[in-house]
Amino acid sequence: QSPPSCCRHLLNTFCALYLAKLSSVGSISEEETCEKLKGLIQRQVQMCKRNLEVMDSVRRGAQLAIEECQYQFRNRRWNCSTLDSLPVFGKVVTQGTREAAFVYAISSAGVAFAVTRACSSGELEKCGCDRTVHGVSPQGFQWSGCSDNIAYGVAFSQSFVDVRERSKGASSSRALMNLHNNEAGRKAILTHMRVECKCHGVSGSCEVKTCWRAVPPFRQVGHALKEKFDGATEVEPRRVGSSRALVPRNAQFKPHTDEDLVYLEPSPDFCEQDMRSGVLGTRGRTCNKTSKAIDGCELLCCGRGFHTAQVELAERCSCKFHWCCFVKCRQCQRLVELHTCR
Ligand SMILES: *[C@@H]1O[C@H](CO)[C@@H](O)[C@H](O)[C@H]1NC(C)=O
Ligand SMILES: *[C@@H]1O[C@H](CO)[C@@H](O)[C@H](O)[C@H]1NC(C)=O
Repeated sequence: QSPPSCCRHLLNTFCALYLAKLSSVGSISEEETCEKLKGLIQRQVQMCKRNLEVMDSVRRGAQLAIEECQYQFRNRRWNCSTLDSLPVFGKVVTQGTREAAFVYAISSAGVAFAVTRACSSGELEKCGCDRTVHGVSPQGFQWSGCSDNIAYGVAFSQSFVDVRERSKGASSSRALMNLHNNEAGRKAILTHMRVECKCHGVSGSCEVKTCWRAVPPFRQVGHALKEKFDGATEVEPRRVGSSRALVPRNAQFKPHTDEDLVYLEPSPDFCEQDMRSGVLGTRGRTCNKTSKAIDGCELLCCGRGFHTAQVELAERCSCKFHWCCFVKCRQCQRLVELHTCR
């Protein structure tokens, strides 16, 4: 399966994600490559051609999103594993589930993040630092005049990632859900922007401090979105005036904000393998015997029980400091119990 044909039925975010998986694609350096990405709608092909140099950041952002998703979900039944076929995350994400909400949010955040970083590092001709923050701050430090240009990254993510949903008229429930979660992902970066500083002066005396606004580490964005996943709101479409909007299904819940994740359908339990839906099941997953949480053997193995094996773990031990200056260790074998789901 080559990316052109299989991207056709996919939302563009997943095309980019798929590209991220294919190391063989190399860099997107010719307009011709944009044509080959048939999954992109015409507006996106044009954007791709006009923004060739940005497309590698899009891909990097997608890669970042996959890695972060897998980190945040490493101990859950659905562990964000990607498939070698399409859709990359399986059908779970083509339905309006909580997991889909997370994947959309982290992907649009990943794109905004990677593009912003590329701007600051001077890799791109179209953008650079944000120079609007300059001068001396009320706290007395000097702005460096080279802050992360998050406005550019967010605007690029909006125009590239959201265009697909908008082209469909943005009135279907799924389009509304995707747009909302895309925006929530970008908000997670915006609300965690921080100030980083560098001190100048004799031996770190910090006589002069220059600072700039910086994007948070992507891990923090992933963590914030994972919390939004845990507290996501189930919504349903409702006619509001002349348009449609998503409102909480349970009227007792307080309305969601722009920063919350929303979903339309309950998720499966992810216990058993179902390759048609891209669900791998939890058989063979490592679980924690003493934990009562979702990573514990009881919940992770869905009550099927687990196997226990003794495995040898190689570790560094009896480390000695030698003058001067290195540390020498021995290799020790330690027996540990490893539990895996039946
Ligand atoms: C996710 O779990 C499956 C088994 O259910 C395993 O094969 C896969 O390696 C895991 N993926 C990640 C990224 O941990
Ligand atoms: C297993 O769970 C317990 C209790 O939640 C925790 O203290 C421990 O660190 C966990 N072990 C591993 C290997 O994650």
